[in-house]
Amino acid sequence: MSFAKLRLRPRLSSSDWQCKLAVLRAHTSHLSFRYINLRMKSESQVIVRPARNVRGSVSLPGDKSISHRYAMLAAIADGSSRLENYSTGADCASTLGCLRSLGVKWEHKKDTSDNVIEVQGSGPMLAAPGEALDCGNSGSTIRMLSGIVSGQNFTSELSGDESLSNRPMARVITPLTVMGARISSQDGRPPLRIAGGNLKSIHYRMPVASAQVKTCLLFAGLLADGEMCIEEPLRTRDHGELALRAFGAQLERKGNEVRIRGGQRLQGIETRIPGDLSSAAFFLCAAALFPNSKLTITNLLMNPTRARLLDVLIQMGLRISVTQLEELHGELVGTLQVEGGQLTGATIAGGDAAALIDEIPVLAAIAPYTRKGIEVRDAKELRVKESDRIASIAANLRAMGAQVEELEDGLKIPGGQSPRGAELESFGDHRIAMAFSIAALRAQGETLIRGSQCAAISYPAFFSTLEELVEH
Ligand code: S3P
Repeated sequence: MSFAKLRLRPRLSSSDWQCKLAVLRAHTSHLSFRYINLRMKSESQVIVRPARNVRGSVSLPGDKSISHRYAMLAAIADGSSRLENYSTGADCASTLGCLRSLGVKWEHKKDTSDNVIEVQGSGPMLAAPGEALDCGNSGSTIRMLSGIVSGQNFTSELSGDESLSNRPMARVITPLTVMGARISSQDGRPPLRIAGGNLKSIHYRMPVASAQVKTCLLFAGLLADGEMCIEEPLRTRDHGELALRAFGAQLERKGNEVRIRGGQRLQGIETRIPGDLSSAAFFLCAAALFPNSKLTITNLLMNPTRARLLDVLIQMGLRISVTQLEELHGELVGTLQVEGGQLTGATIAGGDAAALIDEIPVLAAIAPYTRKGIEVRDAKELRVKESDRIASIAANLRAMGAQVEELEDGLKIPGGQSPRGAELESFGDHRIAMAFSIAALRAQGETLIRGSQCAAISYPAFFSTLEELVEH
């Protein structure tokens, strides 16, 4: 097996991307997964061979949701922050790149193996950027940072790659405009031009359940006059609230309402970011495919608003136990011991669809191997992620010869199927590339995934870590 260097499409080759790709190369140089470089097309492919089992122990890079929030709050805090196990994904590098353009000083500590970022807080007022803020592929960066730049007395432009330029931003533009920001966009999509300053707090009932929007508005509320109240239709992940508290802000939560008073000053923190549960989902689902698998995941985020996946996998037949549970700045962290079993199936609908939104791609990808199949409903949001994930999942399952029914708001995937290895697309979507390399582990024959380098958006070392855990 051989490994050939990955190449980027030119529009993604910012210095942060180069840095992430360097990490990816370092992590993949010994792989027996085969990377094939299409020289002229500068896209990478990965070939995944069927496996016999999954075994081993792993600790994951820091959670993406928490890394974005800690970096942004560290930037507007007083004093310095030290963030250990910061996410290695290109998305979180995009956040750091934007913060640098806003005058924030931060440093990647190269003498540690633990991806440590030290940030010198600027206090609540940042510097006017001399260039557009490049959010890359990152919806979290553009949406949450919009809340912060709306509170600044200058104009910023926030842009991103082709996928991000097609994603809906009205969900942040509407409330931020009511608060007093003047925002122009391309028909509700990036690039956004935000003239900020003099924000007023509002009571806002969010029409879409979105933790990114909630966090954006909490950040804007912190920089606004008065008391902001945000009401969410469903409880979404609460990292924004926990992060604000970690940096010293006071918030009140009553049912689905959260309130924050403007003008509170934040203080820098020193902390370690727990391993990313949405990245762990790929290895958990890989373990779920093999009855004799045995996997340990240490230092893993166990926040209850993120951990619904564990309940679903346990209900489906995976044996999971949690040890060494501790709390770090309000976030639960633990060690998971996982053993395979026979997988039944599941229905994911209502609040579960929102709680599992990032894990549905990999659950759907392994659905054909379950006994009863998986049905996903109420998950229309999947259509406006990095790709239209409902369409991407359906296309790849069909290419593997599996039956799947595509619904407007989800998918119906019968169980008891035997998908075959096939040529699949990543659709430039990191979670699709990773989800189908897991499905490929139980397929009949080899699977080739085009554009697999996009895994680096959230997890550059994904393929090398998977290679260490699978037995062929
Ligand atoms: C995120 C929230 C979710 C999720 C995304 C990260 C966050 O998006 O899909 O990957 O960190 O708040 P929405 O807020 O759009 O649901």
